[in-house]
Amino acid sequence: MGFYTDIILPRLCDLAMRNKQLVPFRTRVIAAAEGRVLEIGVGSGMNLPFYRSPVREILALEPSPPLVAMARRASRGPRMPVSFLGASAEAIPLDEHCIDTVVTTWTLCSIPQAADHIETGYIPGPKPMTFMYEGSARPD
Ligand SMILES: C[S@@+](CC[C@H](N)C(=O)[O-])C[C@H]1O[C@@H](n2cnc3c(N)ncnc32)[C@H](O)[C@@H]1O
Repeated sequence: MGFYTDIILPRLCDLAMRNKQLVPFRTRVIAAAEGRVLEIGVGSGMNLPFYRSPVREILALEPSPPLVAMARRASRGPRMPVSFLGASAEAIPLDEHCIDTVVTTWTLCSIPQAADHIETGYIPGPKPMTFMYEGSARPD
């Protein structure tokens, strides 16, 4: 942790992810979510305004405390409860069988192994789980 990590990087991330050209992707991805959602790498919360019913709860995982603070602000005026998990995708602090949808957008260049963990049942769910991502470095 330091000036770059605590101050510069979160602001750069927030600024970059405010790009309006990303809105159609966010709209399409988040519209497919339902039930209890785990969003991995929620960043400054740019996806949060797009969630609608049948999403009933959002668990927002983000390891950067400054980005969690920004995402908390973005989660005000809630349509559904949002809980923040200050943790990394490599060690998700959740029990098994508790997630209906996993969302992650523009994170897999930082955490490519998360996709493998999740796709191989790292967080097995009672219903078929939707794993959604856009703009990742993964070819598939
Ligand atoms: C480019 S930003 C995308 C933020 C957000 N998903 C969006 O669409 O606006 C990448 C995010 O991944 C997060 N991240 C990086 N490594 C991570 C890890 N190991 N586990 C969870 N999130 C991580 C970063 O802190 C950052 O918030």
